[in-house]
Amino acid sequence: MRALVIHESLTGNTRRAAGIVVEELIARGWEASECSSRTVDLAALQQADVVVVGTWVDGLILFGQRPGGSGKLSKIPLLAGKPTYGFVTYAVDAGKTLDKLTAVLEDRDGDVRGAMAIRRDQLEVGAVSLAAGIVEAVPAALA
Ligand SMILES: Cc1cc2nc3c(=O)[nH]c(=O)nc-3n(C[C@H](O)[C@H](O)[C@H](O)COP(=O)(O)O)c2cc1C
Repeated sequence: MRALVIHESLTGNTRRAAGIVVEELIARGWEASECSSRTVDLAALQQADVVVVGTWVDGLILFGQRPGGSGKLSKIPLLAGKPTYGFVTYAVDAGKTLDKLTAVLEDRDGDVRGAMAIRRDQLEVGAVSLAAGIVEAVPAALA
């Protein structure tokens, strides 16, 4: 199985989480790579069986939360109906960001199978568990 992890990151947390997801997928026997939402790796996207898209929570901490860099995310290449997972990193409260990210990814023709919020002080544990969940879910889902 092959995955592409696309990240939108302002201060580096989401990029770091994306890197951990990639490492964990590889450790579990997948092929995986990452790229920024600003320069999506088109060859890797075409070859990917699964796409993961991560961004950060932008808002007024306890309200008005939305996916950071929504403008960039709404312009990523079409995901061609591929199984897609979203994640966000946040500080305090992700609000309804996951629903909003799911809507953006569905607009890009992703077949969104799940989405996860990862607190920025728990990047490692969150990213590892996201990768584990994807590996567990996807072979059955694609069969
Ligand atoms: C402008 C701005 C707004 C933010 N708003 C929220 C928010 O509403 N709720 C929250 O929990 N975290 C909020 N955060 C924290 C970020 O979502 C968090 O630090 C995230 O991990 C940053 O990811 P990045 O390092 O990939 O940019 C905000 C950060 C910034 C810079």
